[in-house]
Amino acid sequence: MTDSSQPTNAKITVGDSELELKTWPASIGSPAVDISKLLATHGVVTYDPGFANTASTRTAITYVDGAKGTLRHRGYSIEDLAEHCTFLEVAYLLLYGDLPNRAECDEWTNSIKMHTLLSEEMKRFFDAFPRSAHPMAILSSATNAISAFYEAYYDPKSEDAIKESTNRLIAKMPTIAAWAYKKSISQPYIYPRNNLTYVENFLNMMFGLPVEESEVDPLIVKALNVLLILHADHGQNQSTATVRFVGSSHANLFASVSAGMNALWGPLHGGANQAVVEMLSSIHDDPAMTVDKAVARAKDPDDEFRLMGFGHRVYKNFDPRALILRSFADDVLAKMDRDDPLLDIAKQLAVVAREDDYFVSRNLYPNVDFYSGIIFRALGFPTRMFTVLFAIGRLPGWIANWIEMHDDPATRIGRPRQVYEGIVTRDFKPIEER
Ligand code: CMC
Repeated sequence: MTDSSQPTNAKITVGDSELELKTWPASIGSPAVDISKLLATHGVVTYDPGFANTASTRTAITYVDGAKGTLRHRGYSIEDLAEHCTFLEVAYLLLYGDLPNRAECDEWTNSIKMHTLLSEEMKRFFDAFPRSAHPMAILSSATNAISAFYEAYYDPKSEDAIKESTNRLIAKMPTIAAWAYKKSISQPYIYPRNNLTYVENFLNMMFGLPVEESEVDPLIVKALNVLLILHADHGQNQSTATVRFVGSSHANLFASVSAGMNALWGPLHGGANQAVVEMLSSIHDDPAMTVDKAVARAKDPDDEFRLMGFGHRVYKNFDPRALILRSFADDVLAKMDRDDPLLDIAKQLAVVAREDDYFVSRNLYPNVDFYSGIIFRALGFPTRMFTVLFAIGRLPGWIANWIEMHDDPATRIGRPRQVYEGIVTRDFKPIEER
């Protein structure tokens, strides 16, 4: 269904010449003006740093309304999904367009369970990293490395190949993530156990030991399930756009996802959850640093310091995921019987920043990463694993977007233009004369 109030055409004047441009209506949200013929007809390209005003695709997966703070996957609100679903149900929804019924859910869950093991050869791969390696470096490398085992599934136009690589990626990601952690603490790798649910299995591989049976705390399972759902997809965010971009060259799914993980790692994107806790710790630990000083530094145009966990390219009112997590953080900490001074600092920071004109005028609100780190910490995850947890959550979104891109007949290899501002031409000089 489309909104009949949306414009169906637009005009642009370049020099003396006017061009009528087609528009693509949106079922909800901003329609797009199609500028794809502008270079051919008028010899100009469009300039849009950070692609902040550019729709790189048409999509039916996720809708984000930054002004209203709305996030919906395939039409379902994030609030409903977080309250009622398992992470694997949401993954199915993103990938296949509908929530699974009982039979579909069982079949889907079993098809994931069949692939949780890593090839034994991969153990040596993990061993080769230094103990100090950041788990995101291991995660993205291992994700790329498993492509070496599945060359038969490289064809992006084969439905079978896509299904096989999708199932393997989703099944193996918790194993890779947990083994990356085990490597960093020199503990034996724990094999997956298929009598456990997706989240239980991951927690068992993260925190279990081969010398004893371990119980997984149902409270932690429930909390992690919600956290993974809240991270599952988010429109054309930077890592998803990267997965599509790399995939548009027909790079295989494993390689495309691995590239997305590297994009996610950056502190302005998924790496922010680690950076938030490090920032809160530095306020807590450094007597010279206070909440007010951190805010003052963030506002200083000559200081590169930013309040990590604040601001968002799309949300200019509130981030609905942060809103869910704000009350969830209190809940989890209370139930875990943990008091975290960092949560108190986070709350002070949120209040101070919300009353400060700098943040108010720029619509800088706490985002998902602001509270997720506190909760991951309360659940017992080490700080350097936070972005890895984000990656496990975002995986179905990356894959759903990669598949949608390959299904779209309008897809072309991603290849932006540029405005060249360098030297136009120079006479060549041999090395002796330079
Ligand atoms: N602290 C202080 N000032 C900020 C912040 C911040 N966290 N974020 C933006 N600003 C200022 C920025 O300096 C600019 O000011 P001015 O107009 O005076 O130049 C204005 O707000 C607009 O910021 P921008 O950098 O042009 O906005 P953007 O859309 O390009 O960047 C962002 C969005 C998320 C990268 C940015 O807000 C940021 O760096 N935030 C901190 C990192 C963070 O929390 N990232 C997680 C994002 S949410 C989940 C995810 O994507 O993974």
